[in-house]
Amino acid sequence: MNIEIETGNITEADAGAVVVNLFEGVTAPGGATGATDSALGGGISALIADGEIRGKLGEVTVIHTLGRIKPARVVVAGLGKQAEFDPESARRVSAAVCRRLRSIGVKDTATIVHGAGIGGMEPRGAAQALAEGALMGLYRFDKYKSSDEGRELETLRIVEFDASKAPAIQAGADTGICLANAVNLCRDMVNEPANHMTPTRLAEAALEVALSGGMEIEVLDKPAIEELGMGALLGVAQGSDEPPKLIVMRYRGGSGSAKELGLLGKGITFDSGGLDLKTASGMRLMKTDMSGGAAVIAAMGAIAAINPRIDVTAIIPATENMPGSKAQRPGDVVTTMSGKTIEIDNTDAEGRLVLADALCYARSLGIERVVDAATLTGAIVTSLGKRRMGVFGNDQGLIDQVMASAEDAGDRAWQFPMDDAYKRQYKSEVADIKNTGGRDAGSITGAQIIGEFADGASWVHLDIAGVARAESLDGYNPKGATGAPVRTLVNLAVMLAGTPA
Ligand code: BES
Ligand code: MN
Ligand code: ZN
Repeated sequence: MNIEIETGNITEADAGAVVVNLFEGVTAPGGATGATDSALGGGISALIADGEIRGKLGEVTVIHTLGRIKPARVVVAGLGKQAEFDPESARRVSAAVCRRLRSIGVKDTATIVHGAGIGGMEPRGAAQALAEGALMGLYRFDKYKSSDEGRELETLRIVEFDASKAPAIQAGADTGICLANAVNLCRDMVNEPANHMTPTRLAEAALEVALSGGMEIEVLDKPAIEELGMGALLGVAQGSDEPPKLIVMRYRGGSGSAKELGLLGKGITFDSGGLDLKTASGMRLMKTDMSGGAAVIAAMGAIAAINPRIDVTAIIPATENMPGSKAQRPGDVVTTMSGKTIEIDNTDAEGRLVLADALCYARSLGIERVVDAATLTGAIVTSLGKRRMGVFGNDQGLIDQVMASAEDAGDRAWQFPMDDAYKRQYKSEVADIKNTGGRDAGSITGAQIIGEFADGASWVHLDIAGVARAESLDGYNPKGATGAPVRTLVNLAVMLAGTPA
């Protein structure tokens, strides 16, 4: 879909539909909605009086204008209660409107930004939310369908009456387009079936992003991974015929610099559980176990486009976790790149193994500040459901910056505690540690096992097992991969670039 900016009067727009909005409880609309109401001879206020239009958040009412004004349809978008309105509401409204317009076959539409007038948002932020919601909400994964749905909303024109606001609206829309495209790219990678999205293919996807963003990329193959001594990553990979890859992307925006951020993403392209095989229902959606890796790759593309003054290195350990005849066994001991040994208590706790070596690798590059994203534990889904991701870390300053980035992005997050007292749960008889800490506090012990490899660096871990996938349409997230936490990671890079190292 194309998004364009235009100045003028929305009631005169040349489009299949024009979109105005209404807060809940407003009976006499003003602004663009009021002007449209007048042009329709009071048609909108009549529907309000009648009770059909209530202005509830996400309510979409399509009015056919039957020649009274140039556009064939007026859409009234409900914004909900004015006191509760925020950028997330604006994204959801935009998604709901665009999806409805597409479903009724409208190809081009003109809209005002939601929330900029009495909603109190700055035009720039309002336009960003509008673009994000529209593009994320219209996302479909249909590449394996032999016939497509046919209907497509092709053009969204943002119409602003006040020409002096147009540059801010343009800038906001540009940022929104950039973020939403990155989210949709992540979704494409995650929704891809595991027989197509192998570690090799994930590395190719990263290569495409790197080339189009002018970034450096290095894909380490199995011999190179062996050379580095990444026994934990190799242990997971040895049960599969698909060769593992260590994907390393570098964006340079600093001046060779003190400001550096490492982004790590779990890249398990399929998690069968290994010899500790998952149940059928537990395995069904495990093509999504590379969501963290996909989010990091997609975020790098957006970071390169935005060009903040910071160096960002992405590290994605990519492999399948399969129960082949060479598979690692419970009780095996592996040696990580740092020399620290891990007893394999459960082959299904593979994410922390591959991330342990990725974190060692980041440290070997001298990176002092690292954020990882991983579909790490089922326990986080028990704790937080699909509503929020879990945040863990060893540096409250960095945690706060990640939480603020998530909040601004609309990716919801919740911090968990970490405590040395949990260490006893993953003590091993034979190795330095083991890879599970039992049922109690499963997300915390999983996080802490990764954190064992931080080696003095500031480190934050995002457990996205709950939020990476939506089980049904939810606002701007269609069923399937959500693209979380792409926007958080991009925001973080931008925020860190603007603060002292
Ligand atoms: N990839 C899974 C976690 C997961 C669960 C992701 C549900 C998405 C949805 C992870 O590798 C895993 O299997 N974790 C185990 C750890 C346990 C064996 C300590 C789990 O959570 O059961
Ligand atoms: Mn697993
Ligand atoms: Zn996994």
